[in-house]
Amino acid sequence: MNAAKLVIIVVLLLFTYINASAQLKHRGKSIPRLVHKEGRHALLVDGAPYLILGAQSNNSSDWPAILPKVWPAIEYLHANTLETPIYWEQLEPKPGQFDYSEVDLLLNQARQHHVHLVLLWFGTWKNGSQHYMPEWMKLESKRYFRVVNKEGEYVDSPSPFAPASLDADKKAFAALMKHLKEKDSERTVLMVQVENEAGTWGGTTRDYSPEANKLFEAPVPPEVLQGMDKTSVTPGANWETVFGPEAEVYFHAWAIAKYVGQVAAVGKAIYPLPIYVNAALHDPLTPEVPVNYESGGPTDNVISIWKAEAPAIDIEAPDIYLPGTDQYLKTIAAYHRPDNALFIPETFGSNRSARFFFSALGLQAIGYSPFGLDYTWAHPTTPGEPDWKSAFFEPTAENYRLIAPMMREIARLNYEGKLQATAELDDGSPQILHFGDWDAVVTYKFRRWPMENASQKHEPLGRALVAQLGADEFLVTGIDCSVDFRPAATPEEQKAGGIVFGADQEPSAKIGGKWIHRQFLRVEDGHYKNGVFKFERILNGDQTDYGLRFTSAPEVLHVALATY
Ligand code: DGJ
Repeated sequence: MNAAKLVIIVVLLLFTYINASAQLKHRGKSIPRLVHKEGRHALLVDGAPYLILGAQSNNSSDWPAILPKVWPAIEYLHANTLETPIYWEQLEPKPGQFDYSEVDLLLNQARQHHVHLVLLWFGTWKNGSQHYMPEWMKLESKRYFRVVNKEGEYVDSPSPFAPASLDADKKAFAALMKHLKEKDSERTVLMVQVENEAGTWGGTTRDYSPEANKLFEAPVPPEVLQGMDKTSVTPGANWETVFGPEAEVYFHAWAIAKYVGQVAAVGKAIYPLPIYVNAALHDPLTPEVPVNYESGGPTDNVISIWKAEAPAIDIEAPDIYLPGTDQYLKTIAAYHRPDNALFIPETFGSNRSARFFFSALGLQAIGYSPFGLDYTWAHPTTPGEPDWKSAFFEPTAENYRLIAPMMREIARLNYEGKLQATAELDDGSPQILHFGDWDAVVTYKFRRWPMENASQKHEPLGRALVAQLGADEFLVTGIDCSVDFRPAATPEEQKAGGIVFGADQEPSAKIGGKWIHRQFLRVEDGHYKNGVFKFERILNGDQTDYGLRFTSAPEVLHVALATY
């Protein structure tokens, strides 16, 4: 054998060895998946419940020259997952020719920064338009056509009845998922969002093309009737007959769900990662008929149509930019269903709304991810404050600094149904969390310094989380709140009546004519490291006599209770 041959054999052997050992290293890393138990949900990553502490980058941040402005934000936030787009126009610059350089760069850089990814497929729809279609598609607008309004004009929204667009999207999404399957045995990517805020703005509720009109007059498909609990209608009834004033928006939701569901299904058949869609919301407090929101997307009124028509999609998820507390809470309640895990892929990262992260945890959210958290543009912050460049990130960072070290415990306790969490309401009223023999009483109205002083109106910023570790043992944490416990009456005692609870801050209850008081056996202050609670000190005296008070400093308590 000559030297050249020997070199080739050695190189080949080396390559085989490196490849095999890389595969060995990641063998056994299971594909992330969603599980469900008694109406609760969890995302399993490496086989155990995981909580996505996410941050979504700005729309145009996923480029080699720009990513260096993204990772420092993720680090500052203590986020464990970056949500970032994959642009169709970049992935498939020529028909059938795929450029995976951006995907590979993301995989490599995410691994270097020890974070996971949620990839957002900016395909046919991006905020209701088709702006991310590659140039070769944009130049053929007759083939990749748009929705037609009542006046017969095209609007800036892709038609869900365009077969060539659907075919091209299916091929491109399949190529992306195939590539991920081949390149991501490490399971850096946890989930994929298919399309972005699919639906139609632009003053038209549905497509009025002749083909769409024909389908609108045709019988409602049986799966939609089933999903919407309308099985008793006359067979063959059309949309208007079955759904009345909601018919147009339901029809459009069906058409888009059918399209997006097919894209999701081809991707999932190749690589079965959890797949979700995100919704530009409608106001859950007003009926909004006629429609003045993005029609056809997975808004709360049509989740069941999306479920029925697009079973390959695991989660319908709300992008929450509604300012009101009631709107926020009503929305998350609508998306938390036995058949739908709550996941918030986009929301404000503001001081006032950061507390709703805890409301979402109270509904076993599998993840949460404010939008636009990177250093690609100057945010309106207060120059002169320490590290003012990062002030925009601070409300989210407060949440993640607290939760990140015990993320796995929180996800596990939540999936087991042992955790409750809540956020302060606008009036700052106390809230009670029920745990069998104990009630946890959460009170607010602390002043936060320097954001608030006595002359200012109190801002509702508080949030609390309590998890039961044993019969009389609890994990307690929060921000801007105070937590205490009092004995709870059993259902029988409640039925019998005559129960008197002490005032909010009084940890007592008069049950069966006798006062029962809580006492703290032991309150341990500490932190979690690698899944283990590390004791730092016992809290007592001023630190417990007025309840367990939490500020913005990350603090976690293990509390043992008794009565006297
Ligand atoms: C919702 C979209 O899904 C995001 O991509 C972004 O456009 C935000 N709105 C707001 O800027």
